[in-house]
Amino acid sequence: MEYRKIEVAPVAGALGAEIGGVDLSAPLADDCFAEIRRAFLEHRVIFFRGQDLSPSGQRDFAARFGPCNRYPFVAGLEECPEVIPIIKEPEETFNFGGLWHSDTTYLEKPPLGTLLYAVETPPHGGDTLFANTKLAYDALSDGMKAALAGLRGLSSAKIRYAEAGRSGQFAKFKGAMTAIGLDREETLEAWHPVVRTHPDTGEKALYLNRAHTMRFEGWTEAESRPWINWLCEHIARPEFTCRFRWEPGSVALWDNRCTHHFALNDYHGHRRHMHRCTIEGDRPS
Ligand code: SIN
Repeated sequence: MEYRKIEVAPVAGALGAEIGGVDLSAPLADDCFAEIRRAFLEHRVIFFRGQDLSPSGQRDFAARFGPCNRYPFVAGLEECPEVIPIIKEPEETFNFGGLWHSDTTYLEKPPLGTLLYAVETPPHGGDTLFANTKLAYDALSDGMKAALAGLRGLSSAKIRYAEAGRSGQFAKFKGAMTAIGLDREETLEAWHPVVRTHPDTGEKALYLNRAHTMRFEGWTEAESRPWINWLCEHIARPEFTCRFRWEPGSVALWDNRCTHHFALNDYHGHRRHMHRCTIEGDRPS
């Protein structure tokens, strides 16, 4: 079906499209928004350039897709708590989101999508990679698909934040968590199907990631790890991916139900400042 209200230019064979002809800071007519939503479902990650989004403008656009939720480990902006700042200062080495993952799968209802807006970008580097987990599922053998059918994986917040702690950067998150009363000792965990069916498209996609998936149900961590690693390496095959180069004013909106993403950490000595908000999702099935 054609697009009449927006321009849609795919950026790669696997996923991703740049959307033109839209000012996200202005109220969007329903027919224009319907096309943006269609492009989002069709291309799994959509990009906009040259936008001028205030935090509340970003939240309002995200809220057209569904209610925005709060990220459990970083405090939101005072003027708009649904939007969190993601900042890497020139002297820092740890970056947020620097491994292949789908967002916060340790929640019972992980976010449907994530909206990221670039405030300040490094002169080079700091791109984000995306992978299509539906294409990755389709490419599996019938034998592997049968082995994964009905299997559930345990997602936990423990893996990623243990890693941040080891790198000495957890204090940055911890301070923000304490500020909003989220300095929790307990670990957030949730069981999800390893192959999930997209609630809008009916398509099956792999739904596990190395940042959060600890093990499969009925399996030990040691037994699960090689399978998790293999499946995640498979998802990251270049032919399932695309790459986005940020500029101030760029926006990416990705579908966490059928993609992985990876924030490249190749710009030490430079500042990168993003605003991020997430849209409430359903319980994966
Ligand atoms: C994230 O994983 O949400 C951050 C992605 C990025 O900063 O590029």
